[in-house]
Amino acid sequence: MNSTHYRLQRQKSGALAVHNAAYAETMHPGAGPWVEATSLYVQGSGLAAQLCTPGDDPLVLFDVGLGAAANALAAVTCHDELRRRGKRPRPLHIVSFEADPAAVHFAIEEAEALGYPRGHEALLGELLAAGCVEREDGLLWELRLGDFTRLIREEPARADVIFFDPFSPRANPDMWSLSTLETLYQCRRRAGRLRLVTYSTAYGTRAGLLLAGFFVGEGPQSIPGGGTRRAGTIAATWLADLERPLTPAWLARWRHDREPWPPKTSAAAHRELRERLAEHPQWAQFPEPPEPSPRQARHPRFQTGGGAGAQRPRRPRRR
Ligand SMILES: C[S@@+](CC[C@H](N)C(=O)[O-])C[C@H]1O[C@@H](n2cnc3c(N)ncnc32)[C@H](O)[C@@H]1O
Repeated sequence: MNSTHYRLQRQKSGALAVHNAAYAETMHPGAGPWVEATSLYVQGSGLAAQLCTPGDDPLVLFDVGLGAAANALAAVTCHDELRRRGKRPRPLHIVSFEADPAAVHFAIEEAEALGYPRGHEALLGELLAAGCVEREDGLLWELRLGDFTRLIREEPARADVIFFDPFSPRANPDMWSLSTLETLYQCRRRAGRLRLVTYSTAYGTRAGLLLAGFFVGEGPQSIPGGGTRRAGTIAATWLADLERPLTPAWLARWRHDREPWPPKTSAAAHRELRERLAEHPQWAQFPEPPEPSPRQARHPRFQTGGGAGAQRPRRPRRR
């Protein structure tokens, strides 16, 4: 793709976002790139606090879907601001994965209009030209160009944080398949804590993250300009790292969703996966729900035998 596949698109919030015509999808729709990058990805992952934990070993961030670089630049800015405020953050090592670097060229061309890339054009240009930028202030930023699902098999780095931001499960199914989500879980350091943030709140995404081995919770309650839409999903290898873990009530709703599985899940695997999900250690911390009354038991919410999605009204599709 080249940068003619991209255009600026004004959001209801007033923010300008980058639209990809080939996928017919907008990066950071609604709230816009900078607000979503800072509120959901940077704050949602607790990046500042993690950078301030004592030690000199770099915090490794996998930025999956560099796109127009809003998420990665928000992480760079977080690191810069900690230093400006006199803190001594750990070094930040970003590994960005991207199949199509044209969106970064577009962000450089439109830096004035977009706002957030302004002042970072040289940094982005160097990343594109050399594939790597190293600064004396502790930033190491590497670019892996190509298909993430292949690149990750040879990736030597291990991650502490993952910003997972491909296009939607509908437009980009390979990236949201259970096999890719399992690969993301394998990116953690040995016995290490890993946090993953994504915008998707789809039942299939959350079920896939649980099945891959993560504990899973809600993202921030809302993000400015994002309306009432729930803001994303946080997954973690440690339950204690989740502020709002999903509860058994979520599992009960999942059973009735029309699209409960990650894309590309074979129907033959549903029964076994359903059992594994019901046995996930995430639910063990919650007290057993009381038995439903005979009247409640007749309600479809309690009738799980028909399989996920049976006899339920249509719901709007979630990203
Ligand atoms: C929603 S955009 C990312 C927005 C970006 N994080 C930002 O902050 O501007 C999704 C990006 O994922 C990339 N992508 C999709 N599938 C990919 C794959 N299999 N491997 C690598 N990159 C991929 C797309 O090219 C696109 O640039």
